[in-house]
Amino acid sequence: MTQDELKKAAAYAALDHVVEGSIVGVGTGSTVNHFIDALAGMRDRIRGAVSSSEASTQRLRAHGIEVFDLDGIESLPVYVDGADEIDGGFAMIKGGGGALTREKIVAAVSERFVCICDASKKVEVLGRFPLPIEVIPMARSHVARELRALGGEPRLREGFVTDNGNLILDVHGLSITDPVTIEMRINQIVGVVTNGLFAVRGADVLLLAAPGGVQRLDA
Ligand code: A5P
Repeated sequence: MTQDELKKAAAYAALDHVVEGSIVGVGTGSTVNHFIDALAGMRDRIRGAVSSSEASTQRLRAHGIEVFDLDGIESLPVYVDGADEIDGGFAMIKGGGGALTREKIVAAVSERFVCICDASKKVEVLGRFPLPIEVIPMARSHVARELRALGGEPRLREGFVTDNGNLILDVHGLSITDPVTIEMRINQIVGVVTNGLFAVRGADVLLLAAPGGVQRLDA
């Protein structure tokens, strides 16, 4: 099976977690694109979706799925999203697609985070995948210095602007054995909008696709 076929298998398995009649929280990325396509098959049985990016919004609307503004919604039963890496405690690195801020916001108002991944995303220690940090443009050099002081090597994502008009620094060379502490530490840096560690609020369920099938793991 190709990696894309595994992503698709994980995405379709997430349909079992969608609550009928509800508004579904929808993440961003190539795995989620498969989930959106799958969700289209049950669009008459959900109210609609809250989206974490312009790209996902467009895809949802193209399938005739209504997209709601998150503001004003108190809680969503389920948020479905991929990850760039996920560890044994279900802490994740996210933001490879640059949508980390809206992803973290939608995840924060969701009761359950269902992470959909192919098996290559499961790691012992987070950090081989560069950690994305969304930064206010005028704070870029300051934030980069602070990240170097933490032992990382930040690199500007060239030619990329987030949906919120900010920059992304991708931090290489971190070995993240204590993701909750690192997430909170990076959040303290003035000028950081969001960091791509999802550890304080990690995943609740992991649907991990391997050639032998999709395994469900609970936090
Ligand atoms: C988007 O900003 C990311 O957080 C994605 O969820 C993550 O990069 C996984 O992407 P793929 O599903 O494309 O691997």
